[in-house]
Amino acid sequence: MEIKVSAESAVQYRGDAVVVGVSEGGALAGPAAAVNSQLDGMLQRLVEAGEIQGKPCEVTVVHTYGKLPADRVAVVGLGRAEQADVFALRRAAGAAARVLRDRRCRRIGSALHEAAPQMRPEHSVPAVIEAAYVGLYRGEEKKTQRALPDYLDEITVLAVPGEHRDSAETVVESARVAGEATNYARRLVNLPANEVTPAWLAEQAIEVGDRTGLEVEVLEPPQLRDLGMGALLAVGSGSDQPARLIVLRRRGKKDGPRVAFVGKGLTFDSGGISIKPAENMHIMKSDMAGAAAVLAAVSAAAELKVELDLMGVIPAAENLPSGRAYRPGDVLTAFGGKTVEVISTDAEGRLILADSLGYAKHLGATHLIDIATLTGACIIALGYTTAGVMGNDNELVEAVLDAGERAGERMWRLPLFPEYRPLLDSNIADLKNVGGRAAGTITGGWFLKEFVGDTSWVHIDIAGTSWSERDEAHQIEGATGAGTRTLLALAERMAGGAR
Ligand code: BES
Ligand code: MN
Ligand code: ZN
Repeated sequence: MEIKVSAESAVQYRGDAVVVGVSEGGALAGPAAAVNSQLDGMLQRLVEAGEIQGKPCEVTVVHTYGKLPADRVAVVGLGRAEQADVFALRRAAGAAARVLRDRRCRRIGSALHEAAPQMRPEHSVPAVIEAAYVGLYRGEEKKTQRALPDYLDEITVLAVPGEHRDSAETVVESARVAGEATNYARRLVNLPANEVTPAWLAEQAIEVGDRTGLEVEVLEPPQLRDLGMGALLAVGSGSDQPARLIVLRRRGKKDGPRVAFVGKGLTFDSGGISIKPAENMHIMKSDMAGAAAVLAAVSAAAELKVELDLMGVIPAAENLPSGRAYRPGDVLTAFGGKTVEVISTDAEGRLILADSLGYAKHLGATHLIDIATLTGACIIALGYTTAGVMGNDNELVEAVLDAGERAGERMWRLPLFPEYRPLLDSNIADLKNVGGRAAGTITGGWFLKEFVGDTSWVHIDIAGTSWSERDEAHQIEGATGAGTRTLLALAERMAGGAR
């Protein structure tokens, strides 16, 4: 798909459809009002008839019969004006792209960002473009026959004044890369675990390296043993698919921060000996969503030449029960020497991250951001739409939350008060891997905190946000690519660049 910018307005654009926004209960304004008068008041009549209400993601398509250069107008609802924030704008843009694609439009012009005049165009324009990519993704990765061609092959961002053209083109390019990266992550997560093994993920990383010039290093079990990564090895030990530790690296300014994104890469999480119930176990192919976000974001940052010393660290393993599997009660020694008593083999994500956070520090990282489908408790606390954020450095936490906002991903901080730490006390080892049912997301965070020392660190729990339970107007059921755009926006921000 190609993205263009143009100074043309909604009433000037020639193509298959032009997209305008309306809010619920509000009057037609901006491009919607201009289109309405060209159509002799037709949109207003539809508003009065209650056919256009402006409800979130409502898409009304009307034909223009030569009254406008565009063949169709798509009027998209943004919800109530006071709630029409950047999140609503994204949902609307994704819904509109899906509807127009399904009506076989090939070229559309979008004036949707103009429906949010309170937002800066550097924020609203990329939001609309990224959301179109997210909306158009079909997820039919393994279908032998595709239902329909993709149709939509060009989106033009309208009403970009000539003097803003260059900056708009930069913004648009970064949004294109962010949108494609999100769908790349979704593809990796949707693909099944009989294909996506730790070795397969490593091959993907090598391909990314070949494409982008990132340095890639893949550690296999003998090297992991030499390095003392007892936790990652234990988690992978029950599977016939040996674990990998994947490191992607892009060197940047010598004097700047050295940032590591660390992504949980459980290619399948059965729970191991502490096996999960069968219902919904198939969704645990998505337990490498953190790894997918890291691979996609690091690759996108390289493609955009973000000037930052950036590392992607991906521990990849498959958690299965077998005669070689690790067990509850085992004591493991993680990278760096700390010992962990395993209470549940299903609390495996924190184990592989413990080794990896330590290793990222060992490689010289000054800022650690890990992202993981870590706890079911995070779904109980924050639901499926908001990720949990914890950290030991307020400034870095704020930077992550701000990047989330830029990226259109809801995130909320949870505390790591010292009172939670004793929940992880073990009689036999330095700590245990489960802190009980209470505050399960926080004790997961506290466990990781034990392995980062004084290094700046933030943990993002995407157990709820990485997988969408149902088809929605703006995105299909399945992998969401959660965290990809937040990490990319964070990298851009830490490089002191755009967004
Ligand atoms: N991968 C799961 C967490 C998860 C659950 C992600 C549901 C997405 C949807 C993780 O490895 C896990 O099993 N966590 C346990 C931790 C517990 C044993 C302390 C959990 O949440 O039950
Ligand atoms: Mn688990
Ligand atoms: Zn898991």
